[in-house]
Amino acid sequence: MTCVLVGAPVDSGKRRQGCKMGPDAYRTAGLEEALRSLGHSVHDSGNVVPRPANENQDPRNPALHALDENVAWTEGLIAAGEKAARDGFPIFLGGDHAMSLGTIAGVAAYAKAEGRPLFVLWLDAHSDIHTPTTTQSGNLHGTAVAYHLGMDGFDAFPPLENPIPQDHVCMIGLRSVDEPEHQFLAGSDVMAIDMRAIDEQGITGPLTAFLDSVAAAGGMLHVSLDADFLDPSIAPAVGTTVPGGATFREAHLVMELVCDSGLATSLDLAELNPFLDERGKTATLMVDLAASLLGRRVFDRPT
Ligand code: ARG
Ligand code: MN
Ligand code: MN
Ligand code: MN
Repeated sequence: MTCVLVGAPVDSGKRRQGCKMGPDAYRTAGLEEALRSLGHSVHDSGNVVPRPANENQDPRNPALHALDENVAWTEGLIAAGEKAARDGFPIFLGGDHAMSLGTIAGVAAYAKAEGRPLFVLWLDAHSDIHTPTTTQSGNLHGTAVAYHLGMDGFDAFPPLENPIPQDHVCMIGLRSVDEPEHQFLAGSDVMAIDMRAIDEQGITGPLTAFLDSVAAAGGMLHVSLDADFLDPSIAPAVGTTVPGGATFREAHLVMELVCDSGLATSLDLAELNPFLDERGKTATLMVDLAASLLGRRVFDRPT
């Protein structure tokens, strides 16, 4: 298949800077070469350039960090994401997780045109289900899931054309969920798998259940991989590390199972901050995980 690399150097989703270096770190770590070695063709469409931001911000919530810059990125990535999905399998090179406000809306527009439902696999320590009203930090990288579920408070953002039903979202890896997020999740149909569930049951059972529901619906699947899904010992290059994350093998197994399902249609690589990395180890691991999602194997397995 054709992988379309879309650089999304979003750094406006939180205050600590460095995620703008992400796309070039993935390029440096050999993403294109890894995908070609798996037999894919690769088109690097370069980095998206958003319209200039007007930081004459929304007076309703001046506590939101860089609101208009995030809105501009969302607009730019919706357009780029829809186009990339038409052209192949989009791999969005973040960028902090505010990137997903736009990337998911872009691929959702394509899914709508194809007449297929979109599902989202959210691999993250955090649920990122704050609204601009509930966020305590004002950091919009913590809000993308809420936007796509159609929750209130996103008036400054492009009107949501293709809301994602709650039961089309599966979060895996949770270990930092704020109280308003917790309250919402508890009363929702979002499938939310915390690290304790993975400790007790392993990662295969809950993931397979979700993938079966995607397959049964004939769905498309967007995978949003936040580098802080991973344990900080193997992925230190994140501003919001949380101890107790996915191991090397748990993370690869998720990617391998999703690959075997044949359901994935797009991927975000989010939150890598190369300024915090150790000799490229986090960037390299993220590239290797993308390669597992796109077919890298030791042995083929009978299905
Ligand atoms: N829940 C916290 C907040 O709203 C942390 C969010 C971290 N999100 C992320 N994409 N790393 O600020
Ligand atoms: Mn996140
Ligand atoms: Mn996170
Ligand atoms: Mn529930």
